[in-house]
Order: sequence, then structure tokens, then C-alpha cells
Amino acid sequence: MSEVNHFLERRNALMQSMAAGVAIIPTAPEAMRNRDSHYPYRSDSYFYYLTGFTEPEAVLLLIAGNEPKSVLFCRDKDLEREIWDGFRHGPDGARERFGFDEAYSITRLDELVPGFMANQPRLFYSFGADAHWDGRIAGWLNQVRAQGRSGVSAPAEMADPRVLLDEMRLFKSGVEQEAMRRAADISVEAHKQAMRTVRPGMMEYEIEAALLHQFYRHGSRSPAYSSIVAGGANACVLHYVENNQRLHDGDLLLIDAGCELECYASDITRTFPVNGCFSPAQKDIYELVLAAQQAAIARIRPGSHWNEPHEAALDVLIRGFIDFGLCKGSHDSVLESGDYRRFYMHRTGHWLGLDVHDAGEYKQSDGSWRVLQPGMTLTVEPGCYIRPADDVPRAFWNIGVRIEDDALVTADGCEIMTAGAPKTVAEIENLMAAAK
Ligand code: GLY
Ligand code: MN
Ligand code: MN
Repeated sequence: MSEVNHFLERRNALMQSMAAGVAIIPTAPEAMRNRDSHYPYRSDSYFYYLTGFTEPEAVLLLIAGNEPKSVLFCRDKDLEREIWDGFRHGPDGARERFGFDEAYSITRLDELVPGFMANQPRLFYSFGADAHWDGRIAGWLNQVRAQGRSGVSAPAEMADPRVLLDEMRLFKSGVEQEAMRRAADISVEAHKQAMRTVRPGMMEYEIEAALLHQFYRHGSRSPAYSSIVAGGANACVLHYVENNQRLHDGDLLLIDAGCELECYASDITRTFPVNGCFSPAQKDIYELVLAAQQAAIARIRPGSHWNEPHEAALDVLIRGFIDFGLCKGSHDSVLESGDYRRFYMHRTGHWLGLDVHDAGEYKQSDGSWRVLQPGMTLTVEPGCYIRPADDVPRAFWNIGVRIEDDALVTADGCEIMTAGAPKTVAEIENLMAAAK
């Protein structure tokens, strides 16, 4: 039952912040891949956060006020469908196991939801997120409005529950931190295995297979996002996911891959030489990115604002770009002109949690950057991507490096949950040499 309690506590916390009104939170639809074949099912992150219930075709209603209650609509028990598709809790089973106050068949939504909306002052629903649900909810609202002459009132105010939920999701509880640490541990093992496995002449997808093997054998059922396994010049394509090219002696391999565990994401990037030894030019760029990451990590602590790690990384990268002849001018002029963006065109991190790019505002209501606080989780991922060009020293052509770790803000700094993945040149070369 403890598994259930923290979901129940979240529902209660949300109903308290709603004060009064009804929230409607559907889970994600199943997605067709092609005829008769579905993508693996993944619940909606908000719905999962509040329920822990992972079946498709389910809707959560939360009714806040003097007598708060949670109501689940879900699929019925159905022996025939369970023979074909597997176990279903059914409303009674779900209510008991997951601690809802009431549960009904999903087939009764149209019949029952207008009644739950009646006489509520406020409707909490994320209009615009899903056209199917937008239409159905507008229909139910109109049904309630049509009862005005019978003395029934419809919600007069609309609010987006994500405003409240994003703030809750931004601060990870102990249970969430534990899930994220376990996801991080699995991904660390996967990156180490990739370093041990790679040999010149292999295909990128062979290394992807080694990553997936580690994810699955440790209980993760999916990567948290499409794995990037990018050899040589492919590392300079930020969202490269084809993973179908040969890996060559002398090239670097950039891997951005993390598993999902209990719906929580991990997100690691490591870059290492296919043959196990960095060339001098690769080492120069690699150690520049590593220094930028270390500078950023030093700024992840309570009281720093969101942009400080990015600014710290940028400061180190710009100095390096000038030293290596990639950018011309002073540090301030390169920062001002944005010339560095030719080699570093993304930001240094994002919130991490149920979604790899997790919920949560980056700015405060006054427009200033959000201040970091204990319990927040974020990535720290500077990089450098150098495409061939006449004004770029040839030794650097096609070098793409990113180094990405997952950080938890603690009382006095941060915990790097992914610290077990080798990161210095010596750590990487030693691990790879030991595997030869
Ligand atoms: N892997 C997604 C990201 O790094 O943002
Ligand atoms: Mn990331
Ligand atoms: Mn990543």
C-alpha cells in the first residue's frame, strides 16, 4: 500500500491547492504504429503522477472543496479482452488497489461527468492539450449550462491544472529521487558497457543494442527518449537518431541515451574514441567541454538562478573557442555577438523527471530566472560541435562532443546521480583499455 500512498498524498495536495472545483485529467491515448500494431503504451505523465495507474483509457476526476474526493474512470474487467490483451483492474479493483474514493467504467463518462461538474465554481482542465478531450469536455460543459433554468450552475472559471502540477513536479520527493537514482544507475551501466563494447568497424546500431540490453536486463522497459549513437561527423547533428552508420578508427562516438524506470527519465551523454584513445585535437575539445561542465556543476546549488550554470559553461567555452582559433575577438565581443553559437547552439540543461524535458517554469512571474532549491533535478550538458569550414583548423573538423549528467539540488550543492559513468580522459581510456 505504500506504493499507493504517495500518489494519494499528491492527489490530496493538489485538491488542497485547487481549494474548490473539479479537475479532469485523462491519461494518454494509445498510439497506432501501423495496421493492428501499437506503439508501446506510455501513460500521461500528469495522470501517472497522481495515480500510479498505467492502463490506457482512464480519466481521473478530483473534486476539491469541503468533501474532497478522487474518482477514476477506467476499463471494465472483460474476460474476452483479458485473454487477448492481458489483465485489467476494472473499476472495483482499481479503487481498492490505488485508493480512489470512487471508480466507474470508462463507458459511463458521458452519463456521469456532467453531474460531477454541476455546481462547481471552477473547472481545472488543460484545454488545448488534446483536441479529442477538448471537444468532449466542452460538450459536458454545455450540458451543465443547459440546466441553468433548473438551478444548476456550470463552472464559471477555467484553470489549467498544469500550473499547480508543474510546481509540484518540480520538487522531487524522496521516493522520486530514489527512482531517478535507480534509472541513473542503469544508464551508467549502459554507457560503461558501450565503452567496453565498441570497436572500429562496428555499426552504430550494434552499440545501441548494447545500451538497450543493459536497460532491459535491469528492468527498464524503454529508453526515456530516442537514443543518439553518433559516430564521427554524425555527432554534429544534434538530434541524430538514425544510428545506422559504421564506426571508424580515429573517430569519436557521442552517445546520448538514458533509460526510463517507473516512468522516470535519466539522460546521459558521453563522448569517447572508437579506438579507445583520444587524438590530441579530440582531447583538446573534450577537455574544454569537461571544464565547462565542471564550471556549470559548481553553480548548481540552492540560491543560484537557473541560468547560472549555463553562463558558467559559456564563459569557459568561449575562452576555449578563442584559444583554439574557432572564434575571433574578445570574450565579451564573442558573447555579445553570439558567434559562439556556431559551435555551441543549445542550452546547458533542462528539468528532468517524469518527462526527459520535465515540467516546471524556468522563469519566475516577475520575469527573472528561477532560483534553484533542494529537490529540483536538472541536466547539465555543455557541448561543442565543429563542422568543416575554411576558417576552422582542420584538426577539429567533425569533432562533436557533449557531456551530460543528471543533478539533484541538495541542501548545500548538488548530487550528480550519474557520476558513475567515466568522464575524464584517463577514466575513459582506462576502462576501454581494460576491455580490449
Ligand atoms: N536527450 C535529450 C536531451 O539531452 O535533452
Ligand atoms: Mn538532456
Ligand atoms: Mn541527453
